[in-house]
Amino acid sequence: MSGPNTSYDPVEVAALDPAQLEQAVTDALAAFDAARTLDELKAARAAHQGDKSPLALANREIGALPPSAKAEAGKRVGQARGKVGQALKERQAQLEAERDERILVEEAVDVTLPTDRQPLGRRHPVELMAQRVADLLVGMGWEIAEGPEIEAEWFNFDALNFDEDHPARQMQDTFYIAPEDSGLVLRTHTSPVQSRSLLERGVPLYVGAIGRVYRTDDLDATHMPAFHQIEGIAVDEGITMAHLKGTLDRLATELFGEGIITRLRPSFFPFTEPSAEMDLRCFVCRGADPDCRACSGTGWIEWGGCGMVNRNVLTAAGVDPDRYSGFAFGMGIDRALMFRSGVSDMRELIEGDVRFDAQFGLEV
Ligand code: DAH
Repeated sequence: MSGPNTSYDPVEVAALDPAQLEQAVTDALAAFDAARTLDELKAARAAHQGDKSPLALANREIGALPPSAKAEAGKRVGQARGKVGQALKERQAQLEAERDERILVEEAVDVTLPTDRQPLGRRHPVELMAQRVADLLVGMGWEIAEGPEIEAEWFNFDALNFDEDHPARQMQDTFYIAPEDSGLVLRTHTSPVQSRSLLERGVPLYVGAIGRVYRTDDLDATHMPAFHQIEGIAVDEGITMAHLKGTLDRLATELFGEGIITRLRPSFFPFTEPSAEMDLRCFVCRGADPDCRACSGTGWIEWGGCGMVNRNVLTAAGVDPDRYSGFAFGMGIDRALMFRSGVSDMRELIEGDVRFDAQFGLEV
């Protein structure tokens, strides 16, 4: 830029020409007005207030004026810049307010709208019932034991006093594990946990076992090749059948509700003597309807087996049967669920439909 020049006439410097200055201000105000967004305003600002704008140019030219002209030109340019600055500030405030208002509308959240609900999963009703039985037994001071699902044939049969040629050992009932002489089966009941517990824990013994068992049944409305049982065994001095009846009644009340009527009916199992079946008074007809579908008109629903632990079972586990006696029981969980909750098709238990779990997993 040129230095001070005493012969310089401000009016001849185009940038400082009052009409041009006026025009620059008018242009700037129009551009600010025309800006519809903050970004557009930013661009207008660069054009009309930035380093290369006519007003910045005029400002720079003041420096080259003779001192006598500086004050007047400075005032004119200052006023022009002041006007533009003020207009920019106002438009800026206006556009910001508009933006804020728009954001408030656009980003508003209606907290009363329904959300996309994630349906909760449920615990399986079989699992819930097993848990309930376990809680009851633990509440009576019993322990919960587990046994393997792939079980030694000896524990599944021999230790429980099954004869060599007992029909339950036949291929049509039992899944044998290959090769043929492996000595292993898929346990057909939870009763082997009785012998395992006697051997591992000794006496006195109060143990419950809950788990999956297997039989070579075809899947239909009332049979499953894999199902669940609750097993219980108590061995101590002076245990009688009265203890068995009391325990089973407690279990039935817990699972089926107050007022449930039970009965023991003589039966046979190799590992108990005497043995009994436990029946429940029919929930549906209470013994009053000879055509009742739930109990086939008998008035009773069979639930499971029980009895006094056979002396041979105690002996096989190294327990003196002259000093100790015990009772044992084994019930089906899936069956209990069916008649308790009116599930007519057992297959529903294994289909994994969460709606079934939600309906029958409820405590009733
Ligand atoms: N284990 C038998 C079954 O699966 C049920 C059973 C009967 C279990 C009598 C017992 C019992 O503990 O004492 O059919």
